[in-house]
Amino acid sequence: MPPPPRSRPIHTPLGPPPQGPPPSPAILAAMGEDGVARMLSDFYAQLEQSEIRALFPDDLQAAANRSACFFIQVLGGRPLYSQRYGPPRMRQKHEPFEIDAAARATWLAAFDRVLERAPAAYAFPPEQLPGFRAFLQSFSGWMVNAV
Ligand code: HEM
Repeated sequence: MPPPPRSRPIHTPLGPPPQGPPPSPAILAAMGEDGVARMLSDFYAQLEQSEIRALFPDDLQAAANRSACFFIQVLGGRPLYSQRYGPPRMRQKHEPFEIDAAARATWLAAFDRVLERAPAAYAFPPEQLPGFRAFLQSFSGWMVNAV
């Protein structure tokens, strides 16, 4: 059987998935799971005010919790995301949402507003900010699926 037709063309970025190093486990060591969860709640509060709000489900706190599980796992902590939701497969999970370069820029800008106050708000180690920003830059490029 042929696959069902897609409702829109899916743009695939040139090049392989992100190959960069994962962000440092020192971030989770300093912030704890609770700090990561609070950071993601604040990030989703930023998304709520942003132009890409409509992409997200009504229940933003539930979405923030899923993302917190993912980030705890990526930061070398407990594999909470995989345990609760299965393999991350992030590009595939983002495919239903039309994410173009502008949506990516908005998403990154919202995260940046949270990161600016993250050392004071959640004990994010300031020396780890460049590496974490580089991770978000690289990973978010791979989530773009529309031109
Ligand atoms: C490029 C800009 C991005 C946009 C516009 C975007 C948008 C979205 C949307 C609309 C959802 C579905 C809402 C939900 O049900 O949770 C989602 C889920 C998620 N996103 Fe993104 N995303 C982007 C980049 C990223 C990046 C870079 C990461 C991680 C580094 C990420 C991690 C996640 C996670 C963990 C979920 C939850 C998946 C699940 O439902 O299990 N996203 N994102």
